[in-house]
Amino acid sequence: MLRRPGILITGASGEIGHGLISRLAQDRSTPIVTLDVRNLEPDLGKMVHREIIGSITDPAALDRILAEFDIDHVYHLAAYLSTRSEFTPVTAHEVNVEGTMNLLEFAQKQGESHGRPVVFLYPSSIAAYGLPDLETKAKAGKVREEEFNTPTTMYGCNKLYCELLGRYYARHYKQLSAEPLSGKVDFRAVRFPGLISAVTVPSGGTSDYAPEMIHAAAKGEAYACFVRPDTRIPFMAMPDGVEVLLKLAYAPRERLSKTAYNVGAFNPSAEEVRHIVLESFPGANLTYANDVKRQGIVDSWPGDVNDSAARADWGWAPQYDFRRAFSEYLIPMIRERYAK
Ligand code: SER
Repeated sequence: MLRRPGILITGASGEIGHGLISRLAQDRSTPIVTLDVRNLEPDLGKMVHREIIGSITDPAALDRILAEFDIDHVYHLAAYLSTRSEFTPVTAHEVNVEGTMNLLEFAQKQGESHGRPVVFLYPSSIAAYGLPDLETKAKAGKVREEEFNTPTTMYGCNKLYCELLGRYYARHYKQLSAEPLSGKVDFRAVRFPGLISAVTVPSGGTSDYAPEMIHAAAKGEAYACFVRPDTRIPFMAMPDGVEVLLKLAYAPRERLSKTAYNVGAFNPSAEEVRHIVLESFPGANLTYANDVKRQGIVDSWPGDVNDSAARADWGWAPQYDFRRAFSEYLIPMIRERYAK
């Protein structure tokens, strides 16, 4: 029996999956296979060839996909985010690390069976960084990939370690075996900033204050931001987040000097986000109620990232700066969404 070609997306019902499926489905040439513990929204479900309900922690589910599909691209989006992971660190490790290990093995087997490298897209995070205090954060400015790799969260540890696992599969897998076996997994990771979508609201993250503020204002609900007004981390509009994955997926392999890249777009303070939201929703009830512990996590993340490697190697350049993200994407789409 011949296997059918396909692109595999894990965690497809999540925020990035939503945008990615809509984009990939525009090009109908390669069927999309999704794996998620939750159902896709019906509109999205229609865009995919096969929707599998199952967990990345179940190797049998992956074996079934292996038996049926010839996968050349894996977008491994499934993960527990940073806040949620702090409440259940062992489960977070199981999903974020062991789940990723299963996917890397899956990609290795795919590569061995069809003979082509499997491009493996992995969204890592600014949570992979851990800056020790605010003074160091202010002095550090735009951090480079190899700096401050000392995350304080379970999620950050998981992401950083999985970046290394991916690099291992890509470059050193079974390095003592007689036949060369590495290179079957073409691992490509990006350290995403906080992502802001007009269509979905995140759950369980610590950069959630920005999207929560915007969506609450649009719905006419009061919102108390859990970080201080001066808190600053990088953010990106979701269409650029999807663009990052597609651009990196199709970049020529020989151009890639790294297996994990920073990508930046804009880095407003919480107060700057509040201001720009108030410009569009003047009556919005947006206040502050500091959560010292979640604040600690955000303070350990960089204020900005140096993404010069992504720009030089595969031409990364965001379409949406802070103003444009709000005026041309977030505000009009969110208004439309809640007007329904
Ligand atoms: N948005 C993520 C989180 O807050 C960071 O990658 O967990």
